[in-house]
Amino acid sequence: MDKIIVHGGHTLSGAVKISGSKNSALPILAAALLTREPCVIHCVPDLSDIHYMLQILSHLGAQVERASGTVQIQAENVSTTAPYEIVRKMRASVCVLGPLLGRHKEARVSLPGGCVIGDRPIDLHLKGFRALNAACRVEAGDVKVFAGELKGSTMNLEGRQGPTVLGTGNVLMAATLAEGITVIEGAAAEPEVVDLAQFLIKMGAKIEGAGTRRITVEGVKELHGAEHSVIPDRIEAGTFLVAAALAGREVTLRRVNSEHLNAVTNVLSESGFQLNIQKDTITVKGNGAPRPVDIITEPYPGFPTDMQAQMCALLSRADGQSSVTETVFPQRFMHVSELKRMGADIAIEGATARITGVPKLSGAPVMASDLRASAALVLAGLVAEGTTEVHRVYHIDRGYESIDEKLMGLGAEIQRVKQSAST
Ligand code: EPU
Repeated sequence: MDKIIVHGGHTLSGAVKISGSKNSALPILAAALLTREPCVIHCVPDLSDIHYMLQILSHLGAQVERASGTVQIQAENVSTTAPYEIVRKMRASVCVLGPLLGRHKEARVSLPGGCVIGDRPIDLHLKGFRALNAACRVEAGDVKVFAGELKGSTMNLEGRQGPTVLGTGNVLMAATLAEGITVIEGAAAEPEVVDLAQFLIKMGAKIEGAGTRRITVEGVKELHGAEHSVIPDRIEAGTFLVAAALAGREVTLRRVNSEHLNAVTNVLSESGFQLNIQKDTITVKGNGAPRPVDIITEPYPGFPTDMQAQMCALLSRADGQSSVTETVFPQRFMHVSELKRMGADIAIEGATARITGVPKLSGAPVMASDLRASAALVLAGLVAEGTTEVHRVYHIDRGYESIDEKLMGLGAEIQRVKQSAST
């Protein structure tokens, strides 16, 4: 297991290019299972989660070729069972259920477990499949979905914590090949759902309303091959914005979709940072201590839960008291105890972190617990006095393409150290 060592106190400046979105690419790669014809996907980031997805697709029988950021997939003949050994590595494996159900009317995938950001149920995915006339059963740790015929219907996929992103994508993929009209009420409106819908439309699907809370699908008999470029990763972009706000003189992000980042850039402006926002670039100027702000995470277009940990790192240095309330994954605060080890003053009250800014953080050995928590610790390390060692960085490699190299390109001093599996 590698660790990342961050030597704090170096000012960031220059430009960084944002990679394709992990959370768009994962369901889009799975969607290639919907057709026998080849699909070509560009701007696919080089991440371990993407490798797991490509392994699953190969295991299912698809031909997968990858040349830098472009992946070609041809799923001429595929099986319908994805085993535990591969699926357990990544929760998003569950999004092969929808395309397999759509194309073969059956699928069996190992049921994803919980993870450190909370219980991760898939009841809403199954509710959607059932509404399409499929039966769903849990057998020996696997979830099995099957249907004689998939039939479109109206359903509501909104759960207690709001809409489901992968659930909306999963049901959307199955519905493209169902008979008749499907209406998904309470759909997730995230840009990643829109990107998936755009790819499906290129494959011949008939979809309206993606990006709103009501998506309508008119089922077709079959889909064909298509070519698509994945949207820029708004969470990677947001993470670099926070890095620049914390430690930057002037940093420009290239290949972003600024509209997708409105919630994050609004909070940074409110916190006193100067931003120059163009359609596909954003420049941010570091400005000393941030002004305190109150943030509530919400489904898109609200402030993303995937940026919550990074904001906790930033607000640890604010000039006053901030609050960060998590409504999407109310237990997602594993990073807080590690930030406190670096000198942050944060108290958790229910699903709210109350953060009292401190003038300095100090480097410490810390443990990454999930993807975004790891990013928050690296960001804190950039401004901490001394050296921060972030252990278990395999979490960060799941979702950030070369984050250490990109930060070094901006002037940070970071080393990646190989460690044996027991450390
Ligand atoms: N939920 C249910 N039942 C379900 C599905 C979800 O109750 O069947 C609940 C969840 O427990 C949570 C809320 O609904 O409280 C939202 O979960 P959602 O289903 O939207 O999450 P997801 O689709 O599994 C994706 C991203 C996450 C991101 C969330 C929310 C991917 C691969 N993952 O997960 O990304 O946090 O949407 O935006 O797209 C990350 O990249 O670090 C990450 C965790």
